[in-house]
Amino acid sequence: MSFALAERVDELAIELFTPTLGATVSGIDLRQPVAEDTAARLRQILYAHGVLFFRNQQLTSEQFLASARIFGEPLRHNPYLPSLPEHSGVEIIESGTGGRRILANETWHSDVTWVKPAPHATALFGADLPLFGGDTTWTNAADAYDALDPRLAAYLESLTAVNFVDANGHARVPGQDEYLNNLRANHPPIDVPVIAPHPVTGRKTIFVTELHTTYIKGVSRVTSESLLRLLFGLLAEPVRQVRFTWEPNTFVVWDNRLTQHRGIHDYGEQRRILWRATLA
Ligand code: SIN
Repeated sequence: MSFALAERVDELAIELFTPTLGATVSGIDLRQPVAEDTAARLRQILYAHGVLFFRNQQLTSEQFLASARIFGEPLRHNPYLPSLPEHSGVEIIESGTGGRRILANETWHSDVTWVKPAPHATALFGADLPLFGGDTTWTNAADAYDALDPRLAAYLESLTAVNFVDANGHARVPGQDEYLNNLRANHPPIDVPVIAPHPVTGRKTIFVTELHTTYIKGVSRVTSESLLRLLFGLLAEPVRQVRFTWEPNTFVVWDNRLTQHRGIHDYGEQRRILWRATLA
């Protein structure tokens, strides 16, 4: 495959992070309204590169939400994350304060794949960052699929898995059993394909995630666990990852179907607050 390390699309400058995942986009001020033709170009750039980083964007929460809207309509699926009082579409991912830690973010996943349809993109903004640590990493789930032996890939395409909001106990909040019971009751387990085509590009991706998938249907428990371990191992290989060290005023958006992601909790009890919008 040929690729340019950097290219221009009209006023936008795009610099690749790696040949297959991630790009920094400059030449745009997200505080200003974005014309529909530019918005359409940005969505195409997102499908091509999977994760986009816009640096030096000093955004209010309202401007964050407006920037997220370039890529989709904000959803509010995550009952276990608080949201900003003035903007319910802006979820708060906060750790460090009072020893609070969001365990779910530390396991590979794509967002909210326990509802149908799952959000197609997610936006993040570093609102309060630790002095060091707290990077976010993304992996390319289509490249991970491509690494499979074709005969195994064909078999996996025939399989269905089960996703659940509390698959790994991550939704638990100590002392809030009633809340957890409601959450589980309102979001029963759903069937998902093990391998899913990307709805826009058609590329096949590994759809199961370490965080949300409980088992593969129709096979023995040991087979289910072994296949899932194999797929999660491919997703976790550094060769298909991008690791981003947060800088103040960076707006990040990713394709939630091409990629999976996780945060790295290596910042002790420092405060780390990200604003997040999941997008339909
Ligand atoms: C997320 O899982 O949406 C955020 C990841 C992070 O905390 O870096």
